[in-house]
Amino acid sequence: MLPAGFDELDFEQFHSVELPRRLGSGNGELALEEAKRLGPVAFRLTEGGAYTYRAGASGIEIVPGDETARNVYELSRESWQAIVHELETAPGLLYAGKVKCMRGKAIRLVAWEPGLRAIYNGRPIFDPDAFELTDRHGDPLDPATAFTLEHDRTDMAHFLRNAGYLVVKNVFDEKEVASFQQAAAELHATAVPGDRKSWWGKNAKGEEVLCRVTTARTATAFQDLYRDPRLTGLIDLSDTELKARAGTGTYEGGTVIYKNPDMVEGLSNLPWHRDCGMGGHSLNCPLIILSVFVTPLNADTGELRMLPGSQQGSCPPLDADNPHAPAGVALAAEPGDVSLHYGDTMHAAPPPRRSDLGTYRISALTAYSRAGAPASPRKGAYNDVLLGRDDGQVEHLADVAKRSSP
Ligand SMILES: [Fe+2]
Repeated sequence: MLPAGFDELDFEQFHSVELPRRLGSGNGELALEEAKRLGPVAFRLTEGGAYTYRAGASGIEIVPGDETARNVYELSRESWQAIVHELETAPGLLYAGKVKCMRGKAIRLVAWEPGLRAIYNGRPIFDPDAFELTDRHGDPLDPATAFTLEHDRTDMAHFLRNAGYLVVKNVFDEKEVASFQQAAAELHATAVPGDRKSWWGKNAKGEEVLCRVTTARTATAFQDLYRDPRLTGLIDLSDTELKARAGTGTYEGGTVIYKNPDMVEGLSNLPWHRDCGMGGHSLNCPLIILSVFVTPLNADTGELRMLPGSQQGSCPPLDADNPHAPAGVALAAEPGDVSLHYGDTMHAAPPPRRSDLGTYRISALTAYSRAGAPASPRKGAYNDVLLGRDDGQVEHLADVAKRSSP
């Protein structure tokens, strides 16, 4: 079932009429280089029918059938149209087992995603090397700039709009921070592996370690955080009207993240990603994740890196192990500071550099998404697709993709 305002798509009609129209209006040009780089891709429906997208002499060509495609993906019409509408993503469908690679590699569907966004939705592909952050007067601006609540709000809004994130110092005082620390410790003590409300991983010693809880609002200190006027004042810097997501779902319940050293399994250290990477972009975005730092944020405790400006387009998957991958900007914060980032800004949470500390980064997250957006017809959050395993461990996408390949 589609959310209100989204049209059912006919596979044949879409490819013979609607998609050529979209390609002709500029979408084709945006995707051409990606199509050349990745080779022809085809979608085959389980209900029957297939189309190939490939780079031709005069732009993207749409060809019936999948004989010439380097990569062929089989999925239901429902899943395919959810990709077109940007309700589902390649990783989301892979984790859910809703797409099968019939030829080529399953992981290449993930690589194709920026190209598909250009073809279907006209979103440009973001080039980190070509992006320069500037202030309101056009002068270069340090992407590591931090603000306070006393700063000029027009400058803060400009930074958030262009960089895609914002750091604000000294929002909460010492007493408030102490209550956050106590609440985070209590939530940690009551989480149980496999409760489907917490994410777990394994460290090098083989110990099961808590990575996050998604029920922070059950703690008094975090219960009303989402509507603290200091935070909603920062959310109001966004150009779009956003409303707090407070309730009982994965986002809605409030999340506390606990960084741990020497992790070998689970989603504790996050590779470059967007927060709508498992789906729901057209329902939830723009989405802002606000982090309140309960303990220090730095390279030793587990940093948070942002790729400035990347919310303005689609970014091909970034592999942090690739020496040519952009490094982004490391945010730094002390307890009581906060950061905001658009869910569409590429960001990463690499492992803590130290493994001999008593405490690593702990941050309490609240989420705000587009006011007036239609409700999702599905049960639970898009990220719930990651919680398929009984032991609460989140499998690596590369392993999931291998399983879905021929
Ligand atoms: Fe994230």
